[in-house]
Amino acid sequence: MSTTFTIDTSTSRATPVAAPMKRLTVPAIRDRKGKEPLVMLTAYTVRMAQLLDPHCDILLVGDSLGQVIYGFPSTLQVTLDMMCAHGAAVVRGSYHSVVVIDMPFGSYEASPEHAFVSASRIMSETGAAAVKLEGGQAMAPTIAFLSQRGIPVMAHIGLTPQAVNALGGYGARGRTNAEHDQIIADARAVADAGAFAIVAEGVIEPLAKSITAEVSCPVIGIGASADCDGQVLVAEDMLGLFERTPRFVKRYGDMAAHISAAVETYASEVRSRAFPTPDQTYQPKK
Ligand code: KIV
Repeated sequence: MSTTFTIDTSTSRATPVAAPMKRLTVPAIRDRKGKEPLVMLTAYTVRMAQLLDPHCDILLVGDSLGQVIYGFPSTLQVTLDMMCAHGAAVVRGSYHSVVVIDMPFGSYEASPEHAFVSASRIMSETGAAAVKLEGGQAMAPTIAFLSQRGIPVMAHIGLTPQAVNALGGYGARGRTNAEHDQIIADARAVADAGAFAIVAEGVIEPLAKSITAEVSCPVIGIGASADCDGQVLVAEDMLGLFERTPRFVKRYGDMAAHISAAVETYASEVRSRAFPTPDQTYQPKK
């Protein structure tokens, strides 16, 4: 993808960011069904957004930030305030990708009206193009309610981490007939309700393929199948920030090792007074 660089001095460290590509739109994402696979990664901060944006179609401000950024045991502790603050940062750091923001647990399940209040706050405070929410058939009326009122919704089915207590863990979904049939019904229901795309997480591969073949909107897989209409991963997982990653993650980098090596060198240079050198200090003007 060709990228034109201009200096954007509005960011605090004046980092050159890719510009001015026209930002993709929700209809353009929907139109990618069955075409070039969609590239989606999570981003939670302005600098990561700047780095990922030129290569992605969609940046997801996932509620996985609860674990990745805040060290919570699950996504259940994430608040609307957190999603709005990180969402706005990612929108400020991106020019090209569609930014989608997760609705946190408790902000949308009670009723479509409650979901609208939460989603409209996310949209107006962040400038993002869409929200994502977890749930299939049960959430279809909410997806229809939001979509019909100008809030594009990405649905999330299969392994839905906000339901970890009900599901009993983070294992793959769709291995029993009952689960398989429910996930197919979920995919149909959210697509019919107007979801512009569906994240299918942790579903067995044949099921991911069937869903992708069946629904008219793009299905974006995570731990699903290369035959989905796109893929999403948590950026810090694929960059190798953590020692342990789920089976479905491929590591494309070794960020943890790079950070450790750099900080080890820094610590040793501070202790030996090798840092700072004259290059990094200020002297009186002559
Ligand atoms: O919260 C998140 O990061 C997600 C993706 C893993 C799909 O929902």
